[in-house]
Amino acid sequence: MARRQKQPPSVVVVGSSNTDFVVQSSKLPEPGMTVLGGEFQIVPGGKGANQAVAAARAGAPVSFVANIGRDDFGGAALQRFEREGIGTRFIVRDRHTPSGVALIMVDDKGRNLISVAAGSNDRLAKAHIDRAKQAFAGARCCLLQLETPLPTVEAALRLARREGVTTILDPAPYRRLAKRILQLVDILTPNETELAAMTGLPVKTKRDIERAAEALLQSGVGEVLATCGVRGVCRLAKQEKNWFQAPKVRAVDTVGAGDCFNGALASALSVGLTGAAAIQFAVKAAARSVTRPGAQPSFPKIKPDAH
Ligand code: RIB
Repeated sequence: MARRQKQPPSVVVVGSSNTDFVVQSSKLPEPGMTVLGGEFQIVPGGKGANQAVAAARAGAPVSFVANIGRDDFGGAALQRFEREGIGTRFIVRDRHTPSGVALIMVDDKGRNLISVAAGSNDRLAKAHIDRAKQAFAGARCCLLQLETPLPTVEAALRLARREGVTTILDPAPYRRLAKRILQLVDILTPNETELAAMTGLPVKTKRDIERAAEALLQSGVGEVLATCGVRGVCRLAKQEKNWFQAPKVRAVDTVGAGDCFNGALASALSVGLTGAAAIQFAVKAAARSVTRPGAQPSFPKIKPDAH
């Protein structure tokens, strides 16, 4: 039974929920190679669910719009969302398709390889967005990623725009996006790999990253926040170019760090922090997340100061 939230949502997350099967190993295999791994863990994940959890832990009332299987993984995910205080009214249980899963390998340096079987995430449809209209009314931010069908992403972006909600799109995993979709995005948050794939430009140096971000800005997004791991975050808007440093930490697992950044960013913006303060807060949250293993289990409970 979906639980009603006490407060109206200020962050609406539309996206995927997965169960992550994670194997730790000293090095990541190349194609055709077998490596002997170490510890195995089953961890809650999925870019949408991760971002919803990160935003909720950063204090925002969150509503999650998703399609999860009517199986044990889906049931466990739903219970976890409720424990996190996330609004689950617009999560649909799909009786025909299993919940999404991800196979993940993490090496000694905290780097990862991820392959996702989308399952029910692939059946999150435009009709589900239409039915979730109430979640968008009065919300401050809408967070999206690309693990659900593109027409659904577009429908959610359009609805958010109509309702005056700030749209944040994490273009992960990379998929080609039409200009009409990019034009609906207020804040685009690619990592270096996605930035290179979206622009066809190199991202080796800081200047390369700025040039690639400039190219994305030309395609109509409101601003670009390129999340570049230890190099920090590059913010490029019409009148602004700025780098935000990442604190130095010992990374043990970077899975979900981008999701933590996006969730914390949305939460900070929704309480009225300026762009710069919200980015600083999100960088701090993401840096903490990489010091602990797993996606959702690694996200910190830290709140931005309300403005
Ligand atoms: O961003 C990390 C996430 O990507 C993992 O939790 C995995 O489920 C995939 O969706």
